[in-house]
Amino acid sequence: MMRKAFQMELNEEDGKNLSQILSNMSTIYSTAQVCLQGQQCMELDPELTNIMANSRNYSQLVEVWEGWRKNVSRKIKPYYLQYLELMNEKAKLNDFSDAGQMWRNEYETEGFQEAMEGLYREIRPIYKLVHAYVRKRLREHYQIDPRGALPVCVLGDIWGRIKMCTQVTMDDLQVAHHELGHVQYFMQYAHLPLTYRDGANGGFHEAIGELVGAMMETPQHLNKVGLLPHPPSGPEMGVNHLMMAALQTVTTLPFHLVHDLWRWRVWRGEVEEDKYNEEFWKLMLEYAGVEPPVPRTDKDLDPPALFHVANNYDMIRYFTRTILQFQILEGLCRAAGHEGPLHTCDLHGSEEAGKVLASGLALGSSKPWPEVLKILTGSSNMSTRPLRQFFAPLEEWLKDKGLRDTGPRDTGPRDSGPRDNGQEGVGWGKDWRRLNDLINYGGVASAVTTTTATTTTITILLLFLLIVST
Ligand SMILES: *[C@@H]1O[C@H](CO)[C@@H](O)[C@H](O)[C@H]1NC(C)=O
Ligand SMILES: *[C@@H]1O[C@H](CO)[C@@H](O)[C@H](O)[C@H]1NC(C)=O
Repeated sequence: MMRKAFQMELNEEDGKNLSQILSNMSTIYSTAQVCLQGQQCMELDPELTNIMANSRNYSQLVEVWEGWRKNVSRKIKPYYLQYLELMNEKAKLNDFSDAGQMWRNEYETEGFQEAMEGLYREIRPIYKLVHAYVRKRLREHYQIDPRGALPVCVLGDIWGRIKMCTQVTMDDLQVAHHELGHVQYFMQYAHLPLTYRDGANGGFHEAIGELVGAMMETPQHLNKVGLLPHPPSGPEMGVNHLMMAALQTVTTLPFHLVHDLWRWRVWRGEVEEDKYNEEFWKLMLEYAGVEPPVPRTDKDLDPPALFHVANNYDMIRYFTRTILQFQILEGLCRAAGHEGPLHTCDLHGSEEAGKVLASGLALGSSKPWPEVLKILTGSSNMSTRPLRQFFAPLEEWLKDKGLRDTGPRDTGPRDSGPRDNGQEGVGWGKDWRRLNDLINYGGVASAVTTTTATTTTITILLLFLLIVST
């Protein structure tokens, strides 16, 4: 498949409409506030984001989560419905069957959707283990079914990515390194003609940024640059590092995938308009194991509560970048002559790895991405093997914690309460009846209540203190 260089534009009236709609959605998103009971109105950044990351008061989390959707996605909904149609018109003008196909065309891969779903299935076992562990720790604060889906509002941000909450300085340092990764890419392809000054595909630029950011966080590297006084030793530090990395990467995969699977289905006309939101939550339950904390109404359309959806960006680039990140890491570690488990590799100072990286990045978007991938990794296919290999020690550790996939609960409806032996197990009941109550307007409220709001320290952070505070 060839990427098309030029696009036909909509007629003047539709084109003007589309750009106004985009601008209106963007304005609603960027100016939204949520006013909590008895408090002044707050913006997304920093106030609402802080509450989602630090509050352990369940009703407050729900209030913010729901308030954001009332003030953002509900207002965006009428525009979004028109946007979906105009994008399809534009796609058809360009000989695509629909806008989803137009977007996927960027990745120049036949059967792209099936390929991405296949990659997700390979990652699902480790995702489910991390999901189970996070649920176990969150159950120390909230009443959550030990074998059920997670209410999406307790996961650390307003959209429900299962996220780690780290200290600001560490976060900033990581972001700075991520941006330096982008800068390195810019510098490497700066000599190319303008049209080729871009990543090999939508995921590459982000993959390089994430790779550089993640390299900074390895205990090996922190020690080398003097931020960690003692050389890394013992299995605990390895597991801490892997858990931190998993909460930044593995846990994002289903969320990124679902936001595009949903748009692709809608654009293909596979979903009735009055089922748009229901379809979204079905995908979220199936792929990510999360559910809305409060019933949704026919006024709601939750996907544009996310910046990238409201602002016309695809999300699959973030899914592909995470897979690519570990493939490229493995390729560079091989070039650097690294021996031992992949997660202990530090590329700092390796000229050989630098040469391989530079030769791939210097191509910009002038070659099909599989060729660039081949230079960086030795393979021209996307593969989850390096990611799974990287996290294999964490997978073993989680299984040792008694988290074992016991099977049937993940496919059948769940019964109530914990299993007889008190073991939490892995997976979530795909309880469509309960989900139907939540999405089919006027069902039961969530049974989750907060048990304590005494601490603002996120529980799962305790696990990482070893790294962050040393
Ligand atoms: C965008 O918002 C403005 C102001 O609310 C409104 O007048 C206009 O009709 C909107 N544009 C579209 C295309 O809906
Ligand atoms: C790699 O990709 C090529 C072209 O997309 C495909 O024909 C081939 O079957 C893939 N190989 C593997 C091992 O997946």
